[in-house]
Amino acid sequence: MGHDMSGNGRKIVIATHNTHKTGEFRALLGAGWEVEDLTAYPELPVPVEDGVTFAENAGIKAVSAARRLGDGVLVVADDSGLEVDALAGRPGIFSARYAGPGAGDAGNRERVLEEMRGVPAGERGARFRCVLAVARGEEVLASFAGAVEGRLTEAAAGLGGFGYDPIFIPEGQAGTFGELPAEVKNGLSHRARALAGLLAWLDEA
Ligand code: IMP
Repeated sequence: MGHDMSGNGRKIVIATHNTHKTGEFRALLGAGWEVEDLTAYPELPVPVEDGVTFAENAGIKAVSAARRLGDGVLVVADDSGLEVDALAGRPGIFSARYAGPGAGDAGNRERVLEEMRGVPAGERGARFRCVLAVARGEEVLASFAGAVEGRLTEAAAGLGGFGYDPIFIPEGQAGTFGELPAEVKNGLSHRARALAGLLAWLDEA
């Protein structure tokens, strides 16, 4: 098992404080994995995400946690966001704080919907992107990208998921990620697609 660095169990630490992300990883990975996140390690510093790509920020977060957790721990960081065609790719890497610090998910959604007001249905294309970086010690060992295409609604719909889910309808579906069952989101999401790459890498002999 060339890449098996999970120690005794199949344990993975997701370098995030976003418990929604952690919950999706738990659901995606299933019962064979013990999944923790940084809420279990309050002593760890929160790194400055000053990269200019999802991949750079994923690497920054992964190494920041991995160097503190030690060589035996498999650390995966998720950097993700929404890219809107009519907004030249914004909010992109600024998705988490698009409406400013403290605005939260609802504020971020409102800002995007406001900026998209009047944009016709055929020009509301968008995608979620996710990059996962896996690190051990000081080093990023690999990274994996996933994306899901879709379009933005004109108003939020649905209470499921998190972030921009209630304003995003994935391609081939009739409702937003906020309306669709979690299993449907987890079957086609940017995060699920990136994770498939990571799992294949972990399974490599
Ligand atoms: P990060 O934690 O710095 O990667 O920021 C990710 C941000 O992108 C989140 O706070 C959400 O606003 C948004 N985002 C990422 N993934 C999703 C998703 O699966 N659904 C909805 N919003 C997401």
